[in-house]
Amino acid sequence: MKTIIEPFRIKSVEPLRRTTVQEREELLKQAGYNLFELRAADVLIDLLTDSGTSAMSTNQWAALMRGDESYAGSESFFRLKAEVDSLTGFQHMIPTHQGRAAERILFHVMCKPGHVVPSNTHFDTTRANIEFTGARAVDLPLAAAADTQAKIPFKGNMDVDALERLIAAEGPEAIPLVMLTVTNNSGGGQPVSMANVRAVREVTARYNIPLYLDACRFAENSYFIQQLEPGFDRLSPKRIAQAMFSYADGCTFSAKKDAFANIGGFLCSNDDRVAEMERNLLILTEGFPTYGGLAGRDLEAIAVGLEEVLDPDYLEYRIASTGYLGRHIADHGVPIVEPPGGHAIYIDAGRMLPQIPRHQFPAQSLAIELYRHAGVRSVEIGSVMFGEHARHELLRLAIPRRVYTQSHIDYLVEAILEVNARKDGLRGLRITSEPKYLRHFSAHFESI
Ligand code: F0G
Repeated sequence: MKTIIEPFRIKSVEPLRRTTVQEREELLKQAGYNLFELRAADVLIDLLTDSGTSAMSTNQWAALMRGDESYAGSESFFRLKAEVDSLTGFQHMIPTHQGRAAERILFHVMCKPGHVVPSNTHFDTTRANIEFTGARAVDLPLAAAADTQAKIPFKGNMDVDALERLIAAEGPEAIPLVMLTVTNNSGGGQPVSMANVRAVREVTARYNIPLYLDACRFAENSYFIQQLEPGFDRLSPKRIAQAMFSYADGCTFSAKKDAFANIGGFLCSNDDRVAEMERNLLILTEGFPTYGGLAGRDLEAIAVGLEEVLDPDYLEYRIASTGYLGRHIADHGVPIVEPPGGHAIYIDAGRMLPQIPRHQFPAQSLAIELYRHAGVRSVEIGSVMFGEHARHELLRLAIPRRVYTQSHIDYLVEAILEVNARKDGLRGLRITSEPKYLRHFSAHFESI
């Protein structure tokens, strides 16, 4: 059979509420044209993020009941630890309430003012946590990745020559660690090849700099390696993930992505001294090292999720579903970041709406229109989010895991193509009020 189906059936459903265009126009006005200010109940299909929005499986729900809520030495911790050990091989693992808590602890221990932390592309919380220590976060994406239309595989790779140049310019002692984000979220959800992980490892090992993975979407990255990188087609996603982790000295992880958990994360390392300092900080703000910021039942859900996400049938369906959305809109004229990524499709709104200059926020304008027209919530990743540091004006359609069916995806295709047919009528926006930090969460807009 050629049809790739959702490899699950549905036991519990959440109703979706339809609203009319007129209602949505009023709701948009009340929200100051910022989709973060909508009530979720007023959204039909919510593609704001793939983070914490997964549907858990029957096995995950069953595991919650097994959660051991002991303050110290919880059995649930040891179950998660065994799972993380078998996957990553790292010596130390501390649970955290989500990915950014792991980042805060890691960078607090490793970084100080004057330091530089390179990555293929830092996620915004990663960058913010590095900069909060006084260190500098530097992105080293491939030069070819600047062209959203280039259909090159492993567009999420780090530019290894640029890494060499940075180390030569700054001195290895100024670089406390190098990070690789797999897959590369801010870089269009594009995967990183095993060859690139190895090449980065080769450089960092030469200068004795630790290499960390931001491993939020490690399973989707492993699947791309299996499908696209020569020599990996016979290895299971788990074997590939193990190989990827074997090149690193530690990782940060948000279990809200590839572990199907609604909350959670962890921080791993191989360095006893660093791990000791991390545990001390963990106790200060997150909790005792056998629960971090989580309940025992959360640790159980993560442990089960880490196994489920590596199921080849799931990964085939997941990447096919994202790719289907991407191909069906791109092949009908909507410019997306090519090729389709793992967890999301990114529309290049700057290219789609050339009449709207970047200071009038084309991707925000598109986000508003997609909600107004079809009740679909997406997120701007451009000048609203990054200010003058924005490289592109993108609209991200992030797909929650195991949540929406093929007919939802078909609805999205129809909605986006209808908006595309009327794109010449879209206008730019001006900001009417904005906070000092993280303005994409609460800035308000008006139409120009
Ligand atoms: N790293 C990457 C690559 C991420 O995508 C995220 C979160 C984090 C770290 C932080 O993890 O949310 O658990 O604290 N990304 C979400 C998103 C928020 O919508 O892409 P967290």
